[in-house]
Amino acid sequence: MMNMVKIFDTTLRDGEQSPGASMTRDEKVRIARQLERMRVDIIEAGFPAASPGDFEAVRAVASVIRESTVCGLARAQEKDIRSAAEALAPAAARRIHTFIATSPLHMERKLRMSPEQVFDHAVASVTLARQFTDDVEFSCEDAVRSDPDFMCRVIEAVIRAGARTINIPDTVGYAIPFQYGDLIGDLIQRIPNADQAIFSVHCHNDLGLAVANSLAAVQAGARQVECTINGLGERAGNAALEEVVMALRTRHDIFGLTTRIDTTQIVPASRLVSTITGFPVQPNKAVVGANAFAHESGIHQDGVLKHRETYEIMRAEEVGWNANKLVLGKHSGRNAFRTRMAELGIPFESEAALNAAFQRFKVLADKKHEIFDEDLQSLACDTPGDVSGAHYELVALMAHSETGEPPRARLVLTVGGAEQISEAEGSGPVDAAFKAIERVVMSGAELQLYSVNNITSGTESQGEVTVRLAHEGRIVNGLGADTDIVVASACAYLNALNKLASRSERLNPQV
Ligand code: KIV
Ligand code: ZN
Repeated sequence: MMNMVKIFDTTLRDGEQSPGASMTRDEKVRIARQLERMRVDIIEAGFPAASPGDFEAVRAVASVIRESTVCGLARAQEKDIRSAAEALAPAAARRIHTFIATSPLHMERKLRMSPEQVFDHAVASVTLARQFTDDVEFSCEDAVRSDPDFMCRVIEAVIRAGARTINIPDTVGYAIPFQYGDLIGDLIQRIPNADQAIFSVHCHNDLGLAVANSLAAVQAGARQVECTINGLGERAGNAALEEVVMALRTRHDIFGLTTRIDTTQIVPASRLVSTITGFPVQPNKAVVGANAFAHESGIHQDGVLKHRETYEIMRAEEVGWNANKLVLGKHSGRNAFRTRMAELGIPFESEAALNAAFQRFKVLADKKHEIFDEDLQSLACDTPGDVSGAHYELVALMAHSETGEPPRARLVLTVGGAEQISEAEGSGPVDAAFKAIERVVMSGAELQLYSVNNITSGTESQGEVTVRLAHEGRIVNGLGADTDIVVASACAYLNALNKLASRSERLNPQV
C-alpha cells in the first residue's frame, strides 16, 4: 500500500468551479464513467449542500459508479454533512470530505471564528460524518498559510475522531515545492497518530507549481494526490491529473511509486472534459496537448525515426493517443455501431436512444464516409435536432457567403413544436445564423465563448462547436458537431438555449 499513490479526481467539484465550466447532471455522469474506466481511486462528484442541482448530480454519479469511491464535499457543518451523506447513499463505496479553514487570515476574516471554535467544528463534523461512512476525509483549508502547531493539534484530534484521510491543501497556490514537501514531512513526523491516516495533497496552480508541489509532497510521504483532468479548477486550476500520473510513471526510478490509473484512458478523458466544458486544451499542454508528441524540427524527426527514445520520454500510445482509427463506414450495421459505442463507454438507455443515434450515424456516414472514434463520441452529444422534444430544434439552415455581399442566413426552427422561419445578415455566416435565431428566441443571453475544433484531421472532418451563454445567473455550454460548421454552430447555439430554457438545469456553481 505504501508504494501506491491514490488518485483523487476533483474535476467534477473543484474543476467545475472554473468560471464557465458548469456541467449538467448527465454530463457529470458521462465524465464520472470515464474516470471510473481510467481507474481513478476516488471521484469527488460535487458539493451536495450547494444547491438541489448539485445534490442531484452527486446522487446520480453515486448511483452508477461501482469501481471507484464516490466522494461529496461538505463544510464542517451538520447540514452539509447530512446532505452529503444522503446524496452519497446509493454509492457502492462512499467518502465524505469535510473541510474548515485553519489559517489565521481565513479564521479571522472569513469564518470570524476563534481557533478553538474551528477546532471544535472540525472534530464534531468528522465525528458526525463517521456515523454515515468509515471513509471520512478532513481538509485544513488554506493549510499552507496556517500555523503548523495549530494544524498538528487539529489533525491529531480529527484522526482520533475517525478521519482516515488528511488533506493539506495549498488553497491559494502559494507554496514552493521544497517548502511544501517539508510541511508535509513535518506534519507526518510530528502528529503521533499520523500512521492511522493517509496524507493527501491538493494544490492550486496560481504560480504554475501545482504539479511540482504535489510531487514534492509525495516524496515527503503523501499518498493521495487530488487533481483534475486538464488541470481544470478554481482560478488558475488544480494539479493536472495526467501530469502527476505520468510523472510518477515515467520517473518510477525516482519515486518508486505506482498508481492504479489505466493511462491509455487519459487522452479520451481529456477530450471528453474539454468538449463538455468548452475549455480547449492548449496545443503545447504536457501529455494531452495536440503537439505533446509532435516533432517539428528535422533534427528531432531524424532522431525519433532512428531511435524513438532520443527525443521521447513517454509513448503516445501509453496515454491513449491512438492514430485516428477508422472504425465504421456507411455500410456498418446497427450491431457494429452499438458494439463500438459500448467499447467507447457510451451506453444507450433505451432502444429508442440507440435508434436515434444510429440514424445520426447514417446521416454522418453519408456525408463523411470514414467514421472515427472521435466522430462516434460526438454523436453521443445531445445537440438540438438530435433530441426530439427539445424546446428549440433546428429543422433547416441555408447560409450564404459571397465576396462583396453581406453574409446571410435563413433558417427554420421549431419552438415548442411550432415551426418558425427567420432570416438575418451578419458579419459572417455564423454571426448571421445566431442573429436569425435570436430574432425568434429573443433570449437576452450574453455570448461568452464561441470556439470551433475539428474532431479529426482533414477538411472532410466534423467541426465541433462550443457556445457559452450567460443569462440570469446561469452559464451554460452548448455543443454542436457537423461537417458544416455553420450548421454545427447553430446547433451549439440552440443546445445552449435549450439548457437555459430547461428549469431542471443547475445554477452555475459560482453563482
Ligand atoms: O482548495 C481547497 O482548499 C479546496 C478544499 C475544499 C479542499 O478545494
Ligand atoms: Zn481547491
